[in-house]
Amino acid sequence: MKIIMLGAPGAGKGTQAQMIADKYGIPHISTGDIFRENVKNGTELGMEAKKYMDEGALVPDELTVKILLDRVAKDDCKNGYVLDGFPRTIPQAEVLEKAITEIGDKIDFAINVDVPDENIIRRMSGRRACPACGATFHIEHVPPVKEGICDKCGKELILRDDDRAETVKNRLEVYHKQTQPLISFYTERDVMRTVDGTMDRKEVFEAITAILA
Ligand code: AP5
Ligand code: MG
Repeated sequence: MKIIMLGAPGAGKGTQAQMIADKYGIPHISTGDIFRENVKNGTELGMEAKKYMDEGALVPDELTVKILLDRVAKDDCKNGYVLDGFPRTIPQAEVLEKAITEIGDKIDFAINVDVPDENIIRRMSGRRACPACGATFHIEHVPPVKEGICDKCGKELILRDDDRAETVKNRLEVYHKQTQPLISFYTERDVMRTVDGTMDRKEVFEAITAILA
């Protein structure tokens, strides 16, 4: 099963993608996580990506596409994957479509986690992320068992650099301009499904599994 998660920054793509990956035993591939991992390790790619991420802008397609295509070519992707944060532009979607078509396959579902902008700003300021394993929490909605500590790996949680209110506003603008057009792109291909992302995360997940079943 090949699934794409769409939605504004903070809509809950990562949260739901991880739940899907756990349930269906497929890898959760987040280009944002790949970039953050590279930033943390101080790689050349990380240093280049950070310039854009800190502004709330998109990393150029040339860089992003190569990373994603390399990742989905790996062995663990044979039975499918859930993409989170890719594609984010029409050119990215076209490259992905070409690569998948070439291997005689297709995307099964693009799932739009729909959350209005007003809710997003509140969510982002409460988000805490684990820099080690990528797990995500929220100080009110999804608190870790022990405050400030990752449930999964025990590391100290952080506020992401790009979760400052000003950067979040830019990310939302970029989303509406560059990423939202993908909803029409996947609607035309008859794989687009939308879930109400304002519900509790378990209810959102039930809506998604009903689609995937
Ligand atoms: P990326 O990491 O993809 O960030 P994003 O799209 O802005 O999305 P987020 O990760 O912020 O939110 P999310 O939807 O995953 O929500 P989450 O589950 O964490 O990208 C970061 C940057 O990298 C980009 O700005 C860009 O620069 C670059 N980049 C990445 N991919 C790229 C690409 N393809 N092309 C170019 N550049 C790229 O949830 C948010 C919060 O809400 C959490 O605290 C969570 O616990 C909480 N929450 C989740 N669900 C619920 C719920 N149902 N109710 C209440 N709270 C909830
Ligand atoms: Mg995410």
